[in-house]
Amino acid sequence: MKIRQNNQVVIDGDLIDNLDDARRAYRRRLAANDPEYKVFFYSSEALYSGRLAYNGKLLHTIIAPGDTVLDVGCGTGNLIPSLPPCHYRGIDMLADFIDIARERYPDLRFDCTQIDDVETTCDWVLMVGITGALLHPEKIIEKAWSLADKGLLIDFIDARKDKKDDRGTYQMGALTDFFLDLGAQRIETHQTRQYWTILVVHKRSLWL
Ligand SMILES: C[S@@+](CC[C@H](N)C(=O)[O-])C[C@H]1O[C@@H](n2cnc3c(N)ncnc32)[C@H](O)[C@@H]1O
Repeated sequence: MKIRQNNQVVIDGDLIDNLDDARRAYRRRLAANDPEYKVFFYSSEALYSGRLAYNGKLLHTIIAPGDTVLDVGCGTGNLIPSLPPCHYRGIDMLADFIDIARERYPDLRFDCTQIDDVETTCDWVLMVGITGALLHPEKIIEKAWSLADKGLLIDFIDARKDKKDDRGTYQMGALTDFFLDLGAQRIETHQTRQYWTILVVHKRSLWL
């Protein structure tokens, strides 16, 4: 099932064909020494911190004390201050980001790896700000789903709100079908005033 509107991934004008292209593109952004909101594609600090805080607010409603959490594409760890207490593990395919995250949060676990190589399951998988530049979103999201015991929090640039076709925009109807096919029991849709729509996809039914 096709969930993304456009077929190409473009970062800073370059067509991204594989993970090494993507790593190079992120490294170039980091080397430019811009503030992190720019490295991570936001137009302002307020937009970036607001988005992280909003995701954090949702996560306070779903993560129970003691839950294990896998933050996929954790970048430099900027979501961490917004998280409720949990057993955290962050992964990112870019070593440069993981080095910064480890320095900031020496007591937390980070691994430089891509999600395909993760085997350990957890209660919740988080994918914040990562779907816009995924090469094979269906495959990656299926993998994330397979690692989660309770479910997934994941955000998308919503094709209904962003009419440009040069970003990784997603069809929300197709996403609902996609997650139902994967076995989702419940899908919370959280609209934002910005381009993003956030889904909390539950593996367990409300009535269990
Ligand atoms: C825009 S950044 C968002 C970082 C962080 N989630 C945040 O919101 O601050 C997307 C991150 O996803 C990582 N990433 C992309 N594809 C990945 C994959 N297949 N496995 C692990 N990390 C990935 C990138 O290296 C990048 O750090």
